Amino acid sequence: MTNDVRDASVDSALTSPFLRACRGLEPSHTPVWFMRQAGRSLPEYLAIREGVPMLESCFRTDMVVEITMQPVRRHGVDAAIFFSDIVVPLKAIGVDLDIVPGTGPVVADPIRSADQLGTLRDLEPDDVTSITDAVRGLVGELGGTPLIGFAGAPFTLASYLVEGGPSRDHRRTKELMYGDPDLWHALLGRIAAIAGQFLRLQIEAGASAVQLFDSWAGALSPSDYDTYVRPHSEEVLASVADLDVPRIHFGVGTGELLSRMGEAGADVVGVDWRVPLAEAIGRVGDRAVQGNLDPTLLFAPTEVVHARAAEVIEAGRAAKGHVFNLGHGVLPATDADALTRLVDFVHAYEPEA
Ligand code: CP3
Repeated sequence: MTNDVRDASVDSALTSPFLRACRGLEPSHTPVWFMRQAGRSLPEYLAIREGVPMLESCFRTDMVVEITMQPVRRHGVDAAIFFSDIVVPLKAIGVDLDIVPGTGPVVADPIRSADQLGTLRDLEPDDVTSITDAVRGLVGELGGTPLIGFAGAPFTLASYLVEGGPSRDHRRTKELMYGDPDLWHALLGRIAAIAGQFLRLQIEAGASAVQLFDSWAGALSPSDYDTYVRPHSEEVLASVADLDVPRIHFGVGTGELLSRMGEAGADVVGVDWRVPLAEAIGRVGDRAVQGNLDPTLLFAPTEVVHARAAEVIEAGRAAKGHVFNLGHGVLPATDADALTRLVDFVHAYEPEA
């Protein structure tokens, strides 16, 4: 980082509503950003992606910068999330996989044996220079708006690697988990090292917060989460603790896991829309929360969206810190203007006395 960029990031750490809320400090307004804000519904995203496969776009510095900036320019959100995907570090170390439109990540040779596990090598800085260059470029372009880096958590990435693609029931993943715990822990340990390194490289390049997505952890019972998953998520979050940026941890359907996901080492716990935010705040203890408007509400009339958003903001006042977000990613058919109106509403909202 140049000195100017470093000064800007120090200023931003003190004043950014997003970073303040993550750290439990009073922000000047409730900060808001949206999971999956980069891409999806934006016409300018669809235009730039025309003819470029998803994974190729993730390794093109100019495209990562432009797509990351698009929602910031359009909606005025309080944070950018860098355009990439949770499978990008796996692709970068040579795993044969693709992101199939409408389906998601598909792995050619699913990992189900110790021999196959041997193919998962460590992530080296040289594997992702086009990406860290993009992060560096973005920090300059964003000025005071913080950039969120991210990675997939060990369980969610293991599910794609073991199943070979998306799965409703994670049957093969759990078959390995229950049937061969030694191989399971070796696999999750490998993934934890890769995910931790991916986060570290993003932070070193200038990301000022990170989010660890354990999207599918809600498929686990609390005791299985503790036995088979939590130690590995903990390893990822602990591996960047020395870099002193807020760590957000999120999963879908994780109401029963919220306290555990916090204790795994999160500063901010992401909450989906199935759990009332007030309830979630009780479960995460002395940590900030992020969430949790149902993404389908953006298809409702504006006054309904805003009434529900007001409830979320009011509930969030009881938290150590609250970052407004959806309870999962922006749905592809969402009207971009509805997102802009929601940002304006959250920013202008005056709390009830
Ligand atoms: O949040 C953002 O705006 C940043 C970009 C981002 C993408 N994927 C871009 C993307 C992030 C943070 C992700 C994370 C991700 N990827 C997760 C965790 C978050 C979550 O939603 O739970 C998961 C589980 C994945 C795996 C994945 N990649 C899925 C399920 C899909 C969707 C498949 C589909 O087409 O419905 C993808 C593809 C993907 N990742 C797209 C984008 C913009 C769509 C690809 C396209 O536009 O062609």
